[in-house]
Amino acid sequence: MRWLINFLSSSLGQKIIMSLTGLFLISFLTVHLLGNLSLLSDDGGYTFNTYAYFMTHNPLIKATSYGLYFFIVLHAIQGLVIALKNRMARGANRYAVKAKGNASFSSKNMALLGTLVLAFLFIHMGDFWLRMKLDWLPTVVYEGYAEPIADLYGRVAMQFQNPLIVIAYVIGQIVLGLHLWHGFQSAFQSLGLNHPKYTPFIKGLGKAYSILVPAGFAIIPIVHFLFK
Ligand code: HEM
Repeated sequence: MRWLINFLSSSLGQKIIMSLTGLFLISFLTVHLLGNLSLLSDDGGYTFNTYAYFMTHNPLIKATSYGLYFFIVLHAIQGLVIALKNRMARGANRYAVKAKGNASFSSKNMALLGTLVLAFLFIHMGDFWLRMKLDWLPTVVYEGYAEPIADLYGRVAMQFQNPLIVIAYVIGQIVLGLHLWHGFQSAFQSLGLNHPKYTPFIKGLGKAYSILVPAGFAIIPIVHFLFK
């Protein structure tokens, strides 16, 4: 057990935790986006509300959600610890400052971008998730459901009529994209998955992902504001 604690608190162990939690969060984002795209269908919210009901009542998905909250916290804390360590090391070694000069904007600002994503997440979860958990949302009655279910669609549609919220969501997605731009490929590198044949593919996939997924999220508030 001690070797595990030693390993997890070593620089390599910390990087591996960042990579694995990051990859889990990336897979969550993919599922979350695919589900959220049903917010665009013209059925008064039926598809989205029944999808959200399923996601929040299925025992397996509920259990995975607790893992998700834990990984978000772990990823954020570990990221800040690594950033502080790097800052202290740079203070002691002026050459490292120079070496960083060639890095991309994203890789130089991962801690700042991550903190901004976390701030977005707090506002976002307060707005939708927390209201649902506290039963603060109006409900709708659908045929085939034993109980009235939360009208999350109504809440989302109402919020996205506010231009300031739409702008905040779009900015949140730009920040998320920048965080993923470096984070996606860095997760594979830290796991030692480096290969002349596959690394260029992973880097390309990471770049495509960090544009397409945030763009997919950003489209939702824009379409709601302009057309719904
Ligand atoms: C237009 C964009 C988005 C919309 C409309 C949206 C909508 C929602 C809604 C309605 C919920 C509560 C219902 C549920 O748990 O599924 C939720 C939960 C959540 N959202 Fe989003 N979301 C968006 C983007 C994002 C982004 C970019 C992130 C991450 C950076 C994110 C992270 C989360 C998390 C962690 C939860 C809690 C999930 C759980 O309890 O399992 N969302 N979102």
